[in-house]
This record gives sequence, C-alpha cells and structure tokens, in this order.
Amino acid sequence: MTAALKDSYNRPIRDLRVSLTDRCNFRCFYCLPHGEPPIAPKEQMLSYEEIEYVCDIFVELGIEKIRLTGGEPMMRRDIETIIEKLSALKARGLQDLALTTNGYFLPDRAQALKDAGLDRITVSLDSLKPDTFKQMTGVDVLDRVLAGIEAAKQARLEPIKINVVVVRNHNEEEVADFAAFAREHDVKMRFIEFMPLDSGHNWSRGDVVSGREIYERINERFPLVALDVFRGSETSSRYRFADGGRGEVGIIAPVTEPFCGACSRIRLTADGQIRTCLFSTVEHSLRDVVRTGATRAEIIDFIESVVLKKEPRHYINEPQFVAPSRSMSFIGG
Ligand code: GTP
Ligand code: 5AD
Ligand code: SF4
Repeated sequence: MTAALKDSYNRPIRDLRVSLTDRCNFRCFYCLPHGEPPIAPKEQMLSYEEIEYVCDIFVELGIEKIRLTGGEPMMRRDIETIIEKLSALKARGLQDLALTTNGYFLPDRAQALKDAGLDRITVSLDSLKPDTFKQMTGVDVLDRVLAGIEAAKQARLEPIKINVVVVRNHNEEEVADFAAFAREHDVKMRFIEFMPLDSGHNWSRGDVVSGREIYERINERFPLVALDVFRGSETSSRYRFADGGRGEVGIIAPVTEPFCGACSRIRLTADGQIRTCLFSTVEHSLRDVVRTGATRAEIIDFIESVVLKKEPRHYINEPQFVAPSRSMSFIGG
C-alpha cells in the first residue's frame, strides 16, 4: 500500500470522486430542479489529458478508488476514452474504478464501458412507479433506466448498486418495494437521506426520511440482519435479508447519523476544483496550478496542502449551517 495522503485529523484519503461534466439530461428536484445554471465555458473544463495526468498523480499519492460522477458523466463525449486511460492506472495502484450514472445511456453503452475497463456501476433510481419517477426526475424514462440496469448486469458491471434518495411525501412508501427489487434483481439497494444540496435551496428538515425509519419500513416486510463487515470509510450501513434472499440493503444517513469521522473522500469538479468535503464552501483550483506549468512536485505539494484543509465534518445539523452554493450536479455526489 502506498503512503496515503492524510488530512489534519489523520484521516487517510484514498477515495477520489471525479466529476466529468456538470451537465445533466435529468432534472431531479433534489438536485437540479430549475435546470442547469449557465454551463461553464469548455476551456474551463479539464480535458481528458488533464484528468488522466492529475489522476496519475493522485494514485501515486495513495488514491485507491476513483469514482466518475457528474452531472451525468455519460453526457461527456467518448467517456470510454477516459475510462480506458484511468483503468491503466490499475498497474500503478488503483484498485477500483466506478461510475455513478442516471442510467439513461446504459442500454446501448454498458458493454462498451465494461470493455473500456470500468469495474462497476451505481445507478440512481428514485421510484418504481412511472408517475413518481417523472415527478422526481423531471423525465418520463423509468423503463429506459430499468433496461439500463439490466444492461449493466449483462455486462457484469458488478456489484451493481442502486441509489434511492428518499424524500418525504414522494417515495417513502416505496422503500420496501425497492427492497423487493433488490431481492428480485440481486443488486445492492442504497437508500440515501435527502441532503441540503439542491440547487433550488428548498431542502427542509421535514423532507428528510431518517435512516431509522427507512430501516423499519424494510425490516417490517423483509427482516434484515446487519452485515458483519468493517465499515471503514463507507457511506452506508449494510444489511442482508434474514431469509437468505438475494441482494443487499445499504442505508446512507448523512443527516441523522453522520459518518464524517472516517471520511476518506475528496472531490474534483469538472472545472478542476478540489473540494475537500461535499459541503465545502471553498474550492481549490488544481486546474490553475496545472495550467500555469507547475512541475509534478509542485502539484503534489499543492494537493497535500489542500488535503490538510479538509473539514472535520459537515454542519447540516447546526444553526450556522450554510448550504454550498453549487448543487450536487456540480459537486458530483
Ligand atoms: P462505494 O462505496 O464506492 O460504492 O461508493 P459510495 O458509498 O461513495 O457510493 P456513491 O458514490 O453511490 O454515493 C452514494 C451517495 O452517498 C451519494 O450520492 C451521496 O448522496 C452520499 N455521499 C457520498 N459521499 C458522501 C460524503 O462524503 N458525504 C456525505 N454526506 N454524503 C456522501
Ligand atoms: N441528497 C442526497 N443525495 C443526492 N443526490 C443528488 N442530490 C442529492 C441530495 N440533495 C445523489 C443522487 C445520485 C448521486 C449522484 O447523488 O441520488 O445517486
Ligand atoms: Fe442529474 Fe444526478 Fe442531479 Fe439527478 S441527481 S439531476 S441525475 S446529476
């Protein structure tokens, strides 16, 4: 294992989330309810060469997991090209290359992603009912996303994880149905508490369905057993079905049960800014450092100094909390 980047709280940083674009073809109300803000000019975006170069440095610094996100990462042209480049970093210590997507482009492209070297995929899916799906995402494409999940399975982009953001009065009644879906399709279903990361700044505490309630809703229909695994820096508490049913349930409860103490994550936005926390209010321009001709050693110094500024935790539950000005579509989930 390479010596890891460490923050000032002694947390090793092993997980890098790279946003490939802030564009998205969905309009999830918990993320981008009013559509995209003006798209940053193309020249401000990191090119694939720049992404490859900085990821190579991050891997040298001990990053073991890279997750590609967006916006919708598959909106970026030729995403297979960058996957191929990044998967080559496995020879240098990268262990895991994953992608989070809304699933829209998967029916035709899942196999190409696998062939390019992607290990696994996480698909967002907020409802199994066409009307609720449309109401939550702004688009009427439930069947297409379900076909995308099937295509990902065929392509063996496994383990397949499905992200459900649970929001009061929208989809909390479907939680146990999603558990049934996990059993039927043998996937890892993850339920996420709604966080104040929506571009409309309409989040309110009353909209949050707690991890506890999610657990109870599932456990009532399908008794759960906590998995006896070391959680480490993982976002979810994980459960299997007591009756031996296939699939798995994960509950991600950043609002009611924060997991910041073991956080190993940093983020790189599509325009090349390092964010040391999902809720950071400041960003650090790696792009400017790279583009002003810094040497590799200078870039490493910069990254190490930025990581030392990683916030201890989020402050969602405190009165002074200020939501980040960029929505999840910019930050990358
Ligand atoms: P793996 O463990 O690599 O599969 O990924 P993950 O658990 O990080 O999963 P994923 O990238 O799908 O993230 C799931 C969701 O967890 C995200 O969409 C966010 O809503 C939430 N999340 C991820 N990372 C963080 C984090 O650092 N802080 C908080 N508060 N929430 C996070
Ligand atoms: N709260 C919680 N999760 C969110 N996501 C997007 N916005 C929010 C939010 N406000 C999740 C989506 C997707 C991932 C990229 O981020 O479910 O899976
Ligand atoms: Fe797009 Fe994902 Fe945001 Fe939905 S959550 S609007 S799919 S970036």
